[in-house]
Amino acid sequence: MKIVHAIAAWTAVAAVGVLCGCSSGDRPKIGFLVKMPEQGWFINEQKAAAEAGRQMGFDVVGIGVQDREKVLSAIDNLAAQGAQGFVICAPDVRLGPVIVARANALGLKFVTVDDQLQGPDGAVIQSVPHLGLSATKIGIQVGSTLIQEMRRRGWIAAETAALRVSDNELPTARARTDGATSALLTAGFDASRIYDAPQRTTDTEGGFSAATPVLSMHPEISHWLIFAINDETVLGAVRATEQLRIPAQYVIGVGINGAAEAYAEFSKSTPTGFYGSMAVSSTMHGRQTAINLYRWIKNGARPPAVTETAGTLMTRENWREVKMQLGLD
Ligand code: GLA
Repeated sequence: MKIVHAIAAWTAVAAVGVLCGCSSGDRPKIGFLVKMPEQGWFINEQKAAAEAGRQMGFDVVGIGVQDREKVLSAIDNLAAQGAQGFVICAPDVRLGPVIVARANALGLKFVTVDDQLQGPDGAVIQSVPHLGLSATKIGIQVGSTLIQEMRRRGWIAAETAALRVSDNELPTARARTDGATSALLTAGFDASRIYDAPQRTTDTEGGFSAATPVLSMHPEISHWLIFAINDETVLGAVRATEQLRIPAQYVIGVGINGAAEAYAEFSKSTPTGFYGSMAVSSTMHGRQTAINLYRWIKNGARPPAVTETAGTLMTRENWREVKMQLGLD
């Protein structure tokens, strides 16, 4: 009974949406919903989507959706504004069935970016077109970079350990850290010297809080390799090493993203333990998903089921060039 009422309410919102759509002219409107609107990565994506809209003739409404309630009210609001669809990076991939149901009830098309939604059984929802980075491959690149830099600095295995800041609930995070782990193991790194630091949130604070107790428990380790889902998390862990007075030259952190947080770190006058980032074009992610959705709305051209993007190593030495190559702001 409750469900029926809820659906009726959504349908009413949808009807309003259609009316609003008529009165606001033919220009299509889409939402761009992101889980962490303060992160450089997501700021770039939203900006690039809006820019694509300006060039191609559609409007983009950027919305921060930090939790389930925000996701649902954003979708309702979009429908009420006459939008025809949305791109989303959800705050929890397990919201998949709820998002699919709400979008269907309101007649909105949608695609995912970065984090692929899961069904009730934990499997990926294949029916939602997705564009994201090739998590395992990029993770392997992170691991290889860590090993290469460790060797270049001449660190000895007996003094070195790796800190894996992990989020095993989020499949793209797991694939990235598993990829990095496999590269370490292939290079002969001792599995018992890889320490897990489970994180609650995939931001700097989450990285800091996860890393601090693990680093503190191992005062016998003098040299650390650090990896995680993204730059923010690795930066949090690097900040934890600083607080514990581990010298920056004994820390090699390699993140993923290559956005504002990485540039700020590379611009510091003295190098920190944040050695590099596997940079991916957030500009391309934002632009391409918005265009894919727009074409689907306009011409019925369904976007590819899955598109995977590649990474390029960005360091203190080359970050400006890589930023340009990837069309990043
Ligand atoms: C996840 C992370 C972001 C970013 C994207 C890239 O959503 O939380 O920081 O790395 O993946 O796909």
